[in-house]
Amino acid sequence: MSEGTGPITSAGEGEEVPQPFSVTIGATVPTGFEHTAAEEVHEKIGAVARVSKDRGRIYFEITTDNLPKVHHLKSVDNLFVVVEYYENYQFKDSKEEALLDFQQLASTLPWTNALEVWKMNNSVKKKRSRRRGAANSKPKPSSDASDPEKLQTEPEALQEKDEQKDACAEQETDPQTEQDSETQEQAENKPLKFRVTCNRAGDKHSFTSNDAARDFGGAVQEFFQWKADMTKFDVEVLLNIHNNEVVIGIALTEESLHRRNITHFGPTTLRSTLAYGMLRLCKPQVSDVIVDPMCGTGAIPLEGVIEWTHSFFLSGDNHDMAVSRTVNNINHIVKRRQDGGSASPGLPIDTAQWDLCHLPMRTSSVDIITTDMPFGKRMGSKKKNWDLYPSCLREMARVCRPGTGRAVVLTQDKKCFQKALVRMSGLWRKSHTVWVNVGGLHAGVFVLRRTGANFGTTPEDVREPHRAPESQEEGVQDKV
Ligand SMILES: C[S@@+](CC[C@H](N)C(=O)[O-])C[C@H]1O[C@@H](n2cnc3c(N)ncnc32)[C@H](O)[C@@H]1O
Repeated sequence: MSEGTGPITSAGEGEEVPQPFSVTIGATVPTGFEHTAAEEVHEKIGAVARVSKDRGRIYFEITTDNLPKVHHLKSVDNLFVVVEYYENYQFKDSKEEALLDFQQLASTLPWTNALEVWKMNNSVKKKRSRRRGAANSKPKPSSDASDPEKLQTEPEALQEKDEQKDACAEQETDPQTEQDSETQEQAENKPLKFRVTCNRAGDKHSFTSNDAARDFGGAVQEFFQWKADMTKFDVEVLLNIHNNEVVIGIALTEESLHRRNITHFGPTTLRSTLAYGMLRLCKPQVSDVIVDPMCGTGAIPLEGVIEWTHSFFLSGDNHDMAVSRTVNNINHIVKRRQDGGSASPGLPIDTAQWDLCHLPMRTSSVDIITTDMPFGKRMGSKKKNWDLYPSCLREMARVCRPGTGRAVVLTQDKKCFQKALVRMSGLWRKSHTVWVNVGGLHAGVFVLRRTGANFGTTPEDVREPHRAPESQEEGVQDKV
């Protein structure tokens, strides 16, 4: 990155506006979805993203006038601006020497542009949070101890407890402006508070992450005369070390963007960023009917309906609490849009309670199925999956259009899924698999294509004929 702020132009009335300048933005993304995220960056910002050696990170150049667009990306969890990047940093062998290098590095880094971007970013964030305004009242996550699903908590539910960020509220209220400028003035006279966060991967370092953060942080403090504060900081300096790759950055997000749509959480709520990645893999088209037959809290269909407004989404689950959580999550978004004065607050989505193995739907009526199966760890069981997975694939094949239908399925019970897929090979063909990390578990996202075979004509579907739809009708309720 080049040093020095962008040229300043006068915008009249003494106001000076910096000319846009180029910076490198780094983003953390769900591991395995780096290329999907890079695709989104290219599509929405026109930048070519580089996938880092460190899995789960991408980098791309923008001009600063595109900074607001960066916050609208759906694949990214956290954003930062790069201060300096070393592809092959030479660490000294001894701990003392390696840490001394970090201390000396702080005063030699080209901080100016990155700090300018950090400042611009604060005003972008302020505008966005004002837009959220009253429209974003957040009901608490459900904490019903009698909820039977709670007993089946899968590890992904135990991840970060970040509040969601609202990417698309539409209200613009500005009662805070005066107060903001006062607090800004006060804040400008105080030394900034900061912390250094070191993320380190690789086994050839003579120092720990804490050592590096402490020594580099001490030097940053001395250089800027900032005040260290681990919890209430203004600036978060990032020191990312992956083997010999070292990236120094400044965080542009305080909390992950991955829970933007969900207000009623369940035990296995999927990250919105992962849901978005899965949906992208099926390339939704205008007027496609897209179904999540095991929707849980509705993370996948909600992400879909907000991004792909010209498709129709159906979500269902056999658990009544999951169904009501999805309905509540949808209603919350609709309310937010209403409160924001949206001309069309309603969303093309519906919810039902159903058993995926017996869907109340016409044969060949669905274009895309995207779902997150019970892993069989704490939800369901591996034993049950041996029956569940082939039945699901069979029923999904029945409702999906032969020839053009597709499915994207997430599961950690890969062996069972692959065996089921072999059994259903007359109905589904695997296009490819994306390997992802879901709450520390190594899982697969299987991208499938429906074969051209009509349902009812292959040995796979003859084995277990589809049950008469009337037996399911009572269980199906329109929810939205
Ligand atoms: C891993 S969770 C899905 C989580 C969801 N993606 C979310 O973000 O909340 C799997 C879901 O499958 C549902 N399920 C299990 N067996 C089912 C069946 N036969 N029919 C419909 N849903 C089923 C469970 O109730 C559970 O909500």
